[in-house]
Amino acid sequence: MKIAFYDTHKFERPFFEKLNNEFHHEIIFLEPRLIPGTASLAKGCDCVCAFVNDKLTGDVLKELYSYGIKLIALRSAGYNHIDLAVARELGLKVVRVPEYSPYAVAEHAVALILSLNRKIHKAYNRVREENFSLNGLVGFDLHMKKVGVVGTGKIGKVFAKIMSGFGCEVLLYDKMPDSYFASTIKARYVTFEQLLAFSDIISLHVPLKMETKYLINESTIDLMKDDVMIINTGRGKLIDTKALVKGLKKKKIGYAGLDVYEEEEGIFFEDMSESGIDDDCLARLLTFPNVLITSHQAFLTEEAIQNIAFTTLKNITEFETNTTLTNEV
Ligand code: NAI
Repeated sequence: MKIAFYDTHKFERPFFEKLNNEFHHEIIFLEPRLIPGTASLAKGCDCVCAFVNDKLTGDVLKELYSYGIKLIALRSAGYNHIDLAVARELGLKVVRVPEYSPYAVAEHAVALILSLNRKIHKAYNRVREENFSLNGLVGFDLHMKKVGVVGTGKIGKVFAKIMSGFGCEVLLYDKMPDSYFASTIKARYVTFEQLLAFSDIISLHVPLKMETKYLINESTIDLMKDDVMIINTGRGKLIDTKALVKGLKKKKIGYAGLDVYEEEEGIFFEDMSESGIDDDCLARLLTFPNVLITSHQAFLTEEAIQNIAFTTLKNITEFETNTTLTNEV
């Protein structure tokens, strides 16, 4: 199949090129993101391969369909960035990579927790400037702390297991509780409100949907413990960023570790060091010493990229050969 591969990054291209020696597709690597103005680059292709910050709106899908695109292959687990109703209307098939490494994302959430708690980001800069003072670097033991896991799917479960290994008391919340899993790590399911009220650390692992948008907002922040740590490796819009900034300013929120941001499209994955950013909310977040932001990199391990490349190419081959689509959305 001829594939228009949008938003190509240096970190992934070699994995796709190498694996494609087995799959024999024709891949057109495109640097631009898929937005209304770039959809025409897919002319002459059969399939569009899109990443997390491509905009698969109804209008973009209609344009792609008019060029003869038959398949949208998402190289992500999340599919909140595609208008599925329009895709279905047009008869466009959509496939995704439901699981590539829950360990990559869960371990990154833990990296954010440890960096914030032990102030590794500050210590790293200090020592490089030959400042060996420890003032202001006091952290806290994770042992015995209460950790709230919002969403106990593949990633949430791995994360919960790791935190239980630290000797934390793990509180779980999911609309589909898995009590057997809870028993294996001696954790317990609680209501969302209880999780907010009791947790020292809250980590988000639910998908972004209508009902989870702004799950963390001014009123849910009010229910949290003072000095709480919030970790988001899920999706940016799970948090109302303005409310988060307010909570940080009031010192209600003690720490925030964010791998995703609600307005990340066009900023994350890009080098903005020359142009600067014009997003005031993100700029404000960057001024807090107790906020650590990474640029949607939680998935970025060799194992995960290898799995993303393999599953994406296999998904496309299944479509080409009229085989049942294992990962249809
Ligand atoms: P999953 O589908 O295995 O688990 C999601 C869990 O959330 C399920 O247990 C489900 O029952 C629960 N859930 C859904 N809606 C809910 C609601 N309204 N209230 C309570 N629970 C609800 O998904 P997985 O693989 O664990 O991934 C979770 C999310 O992580 C993805 O949707 C994606 O947005 C994000 N992600 C982020 C990455 C990154 O690089 N930062 C990489 C991969 C995924």
